[in-house]
Amino acid sequence: MSFTLSGRGVVLGVASLVLKEGATIEGALEVVRAAVDAGVVAIDTARAYATVDDDAAGERIAQVARERSPSLPIITKAGHFRLGRAAWDSDGSAERVRADALRSREVLGAPPSLLLLHRADRVEDLEASVRELAALREEGVVEAIGLSNASIEQLDRARSITTLDAVENRFALGIDRATEYRYCVDAGIPFLAYAPFGGPRADPLATHVPRVAAIARNLGVSVHRSALAAMLDAMPGAWPVIGSTRVESVLDSIAAAELAVDDELRRAFADDLRSRDVGLGA
Ligand SMILES: NC(=O)c1ccc[n+]([C@@H]2O[C@H](COP(=O)([O-])OP(=O)(O)OC[C@H]3O[C@@H](n4cnc5c(N)ncnc54)[C@H](OP(=O)(O)O)[C@@H]3O)[C@@H](O)[C@H]2O)c1
Repeated sequence: MSFTLSGRGVVLGVASLVLKEGATIEGALEVVRAAVDAGVVAIDTARAYATVDDDAAGERIAQVARERSPSLPIITKAGHFRLGRAAWDSDGSAERVRADALRSREVLGAPPSLLLLHRADRVEDLEASVRELAALREEGVVEAIGLSNASIEQLDRARSITTLDAVENRFALGIDRATEYRYCVDAGIPFLAYAPFGGPRADPLATHVPRVAAIARNLGVSVHRSALAAMLDAMPGAWPVIGSTRVESVLDSIAAAELAVDDELRRAFADDLRSRDVGLGA
């Protein structure tokens, strides 16, 4: 089974809902339920989004979202895990990937819609990991497979072994180049663009997309919503994976899918990226 997302829109990642200082399960569920009701297109979690006491905290939150909307795709990731209070490690071996996939299926109560190799950039034997992912898909343990944090060279190597259903790499607006996005568009692979705002510790988004920010001010909407709307318009085949931890911010971001994008916003977005040398053109 391949991986499809319905229409354009925003994916909610639950990393900070689990890992942020002071995060509570009640707070996380409030945000996730609001996001589902507002039309988020998928939930992004991982084996690594764990608490010290619960190796599956992130997947349990995703499961609540799926209960609220049974057809909602759940993305999870294998091969990266929490070791303790402030320590994580990676093991992308076939054995670990299989064990993680089975645990994800157990916690979710059904095969994950998409299983990604979390740290393709740290894997020792990419070919062995990809063969295992393909076997897990073939056996129905997971519905679809892909790589996260992968280079073009790794994507080529993986695709010489099997079909990839999706790729998830960072695409912070005004910071990251669109190299892997363009590759995925050419290959017809859905691209999950994580951390479009640069993550919770980034400089204010307006400093990265100042022209978009100026238009947003005039429209009376947030720069986050305007930037996401422009991104969805300019990048067909890409789905932003955002990390809101408040109901207000998640609803604001999800509403980007409904914001009309005119030529002025389109041009401002393109100019902002170009002026930072990360334009979408080849
Ligand atoms: N595959 C990987 O290796 C990988 C790595 C990192 C992240 N991810 C995925 O990507 C997701 C997002 O990553 P991220 O949280 O680092 O990046 P992000 O979405 O770029 O940044 C999150 C920050 O943006 C703020 N924000 C979101 N919407 C906003 C709005 N409408 N107005 C104002 N502020 C807004 C959040 O504020 P509030 O907290 O106040 O809402 C938070 O401070 C993660 O949850 C995870 O699922 C994947």
